[in-house]
Amino acid sequence: MSQTLLRIDASARLAGSHSRGLADDFQASWQQAHPDGRVMVRDLAQTPIAQIDALTIEGFYTAPDQHTPQHTQATALSDELIAELLAADVLLLSTPVYNFAIPAAFKAYIDQVARIGRTFSADETGLHGLVPDRPTYVAVAAGLVYHDSPFTGFNFVAPYLEELLGFLGITSVEFLTVEGTSVDPAALERTTAAAHQRIAEVTAA
Ligand SMILES: Cc1cc2nc3c(=O)[nH]c(=O)nc-3n(C[C@H](O)[C@H](O)[C@H](O)COP(=O)(O)O)c2cc1C
Repeated sequence: MSQTLLRIDASARLAGSHSRGLADDFQASWQQAHPDGRVMVRDLAQTPIAQIDALTIEGFYTAPDQHTPQHTQATALSDELIAELLAADVLLLSTPVYNFAIPAAFKAYIDQVARIGRTFSADETGLHGLVPDRPTYVAVAAGLVYHDSPFTGFNFVAPYLEELLGFLGITSVEFLTVEGTSVDPAALERTTAAAHQRIAEVTAA
């Protein structure tokens, strides 16, 4: 059966973006291995996702049969994004590190899809992810170098996304990371080569 890849890009840069470059390589290799595969793309820079507001949150916590027309309208984008997420066999997320975290554009997307009763549930036993696990690749570009550097521990992108995705039920997550894009050409060259090598391995038919 044909597979579906959902690609989500978060870098504000449309040209010269290292994280988008990794995602381009991944998408091309994946499509080569899945000629009849379908690719859905969400470009969070070109088409920003609205931030959730009070009415959206009220809609999230109101049973659908009690929704006012305003709730329905305020949760429609969330419905659409969650349906897209659930339809994907493979997830490809690409993001830069901004101020040691993900861009606000990406956080706005997460706030729309992390939704009680849809992608997670809460009961007396705790919180439970409702998204069936699926292979998920996260391409990350960082300006600084974090391994063996004074900045080790400053980069919250991978720890945050790993916890967030796990909270939703997605635990098969692999990070493809390039570092030093702003400050260290040698580290950039080394991590870029390693990331492309890994992309070739994981997308091989
Ligand atoms: C607003 C802004 C904030 C940034 N903050 C950080 C940071 O905290 N840590 C870091 O390693 N790099 C930081 N960078 C550098 C980016 O992570 C780096 O340029 C990366 O390559 C951007 O991803 P892209 O190439 O996919 O656009 C920042 C860049 C911008 C534009």
